[in-house]
Amino acid sequence: RVLILDFGSQVTQLIARRLREAGVYCEIWPYTADAARAAAFAPRGVILSGGPASVTEADAPRIPGWVLDAGVPVLGICYGEQALCAQLGGEVAGSDHREFGRAVIEIVDDCPLFAGVWARGARETVWMSHGDRVTRLPPGFRAVGVSEGAPFAAIADDARRLYGVQFHPEVVHTPHGAQLLRNFTHGVCGLSGTWTMAGFRDAEIARIRAQVGDARVICGLSGGVDSAVAAALIHAAIGPQLTCIFVDHGLLRAGEAAQVVETFRDRFNMRLVHRDAGDLFLGALAGVTDPEVKRKTIGRLFVEVFEEEAQRLGGADYLAQGTLYPDVIESVSVTGGPSVTIKSHHNVGGLPERMRMRLIEPLRELFKDEVRALGRELGLPEAIVGRHPFPGPGLAIRIPGPVDAELVAILQRADAIFLEEIRAAGLYDAIWQAFAVLLPVRSVGVMGDGRTYDRVCALRAVTSTDGMTADIYPFDMAFLSRVAGRIVNEVRGINRVTYDITSKPPGTIEWE
Ligand code: XMP
Repeated sequence: RVLILDFGSQVTQLIARRLREAGVYCEIWPYTADAARAAAFAPRGVILSGGPASVTEADAPRIPGWVLDAGVPVLGICYGEQALCAQLGGEVAGSDHREFGRAVIEIVDDCPLFAGVWARGARETVWMSHGDRVTRLPPGFRAVGVSEGAPFAAIADDARRLYGVQFHPEVVHTPHGAQLLRNFTHGVCGLSGTWTMAGFRDAEIARIRAQVGDARVICGLSGGVDSAVAAALIHAAIGPQLTCIFVDHGLLRAGEAAQVVETFRDRFNMRLVHRDAGDLFLGALAGVTDPEVKRKTIGRLFVEVFEEEAQRLGGADYLAQGTLYPDVIESVSVTGGPSVTIKSHHNVGGLPERMRMRLIEPLRELFKDEVRALGRELGLPEAIVGRHPFPGPGLAIRIPGPVDAELVAILQRADAIFLEEIRAAGLYDAIWQAFAVLLPVRSVGVMGDGRTYDRVCALRAVTSTDGMTADIYPFDMAFLSRVAGRIVNEVRGINRVTYDITSKPPGTIEWE
């Protein structure tokens, strides 16, 4: 396995993605991680990420001593390369010639990183994002790649197995970048790349059995992918020792609650408590218009209802959660600065302490698409595994203004039509998230010979890789007008449809 030390780059996670795609298990740790922890992890190689700092500053983040003492291969990317050079006796300077985006490097020497992809003398496209650059190599290093803005765009010290690249091989804009990383892990570090999802599943099942023994576990099911996969995995390990609690807040998409019950109780034969709490949630939401108050009300009630059901079961020793790797990576703030709360996310974070249960998080090493792959290994239906993300507070945050049962029903119908058309057009998997929003606005329309005065529905569909940024999906007009026609004709209460064409930023994906 490989350790990735994070110096705060925006794209550090992509390094991990590329490695795992090549069958190499890896973890991302902050660059401040201590030697004892690293020794226990025993990496076969270390990758130093990029980062926003400048090694020319006095308090710049440094590579910890154990990395260079461990004698394992090291690959420094961007800031990582500069830090390697600065700490091993080379020189790094600020540069007038900043390189951002596409750049060309010339391969001036052979290098194990380039094996089978880049030959000496070739000119290759890479993706750069740097201001500083290495100006003198440390002893033992040689230049293997040169760009206009970086005389040492790729460097190697084969004796010590230390390598550096100024460009970013982890982004897709560097063609063959994944192969370079693979050359590092397989070629230089000697790893065989045998990490697979089926292997992970079997190892996790064994680990959960050993951890839990004959104790009891409860798991919250939300209808979403993460909790579904966590539940299926734990069920595969301990069967009836697991009970799932499905707090149904009545704010799910049309038909989803029934599908959860059908899948887990009927097909998987799981012990499942389905608490139909729609009235309770809608009662608490009556008259609430502020988005944050909605979110907090739903979050608080969710915890209360969950606790109540858990108590009714006589409690349990463990609580299972579908926490994913992006949630647990210890983020590095190299530049400091507070981040503001845009939306308070709904999760069950406070539960384990309140209920004095130990926590099982079997997905905490996985990325979202890996969770989906694991779900498929476990036999979960595609309708659950491939489903678009859905916010914890549900449809309540897709109805700006006060929420009631009638509005939820109207929105569910419009949303179902939109998704049905998207599926029929074969677009579902090309879209990160698509949904309808029911606006607290009425407009005048004409149907038949009559005047209507009904609600406006906004459609939203975006592409994204992680939900942090998003682009609108460019439907063609014929598609949009077909959906609009169906919604206005089939859903009473809506007489006008608009398409939201705001990217994120400056918009967010959800409306509240
Ligand atoms: P925004 O609206 O912040 O959403 O651009 C980014 C992604 O997060 C989802 N989302 C949530 N997910 N609990 C969740 O589990 C929440 O409270 C929540 N709010 C937003 C949203 O659907 C999108 O995928």
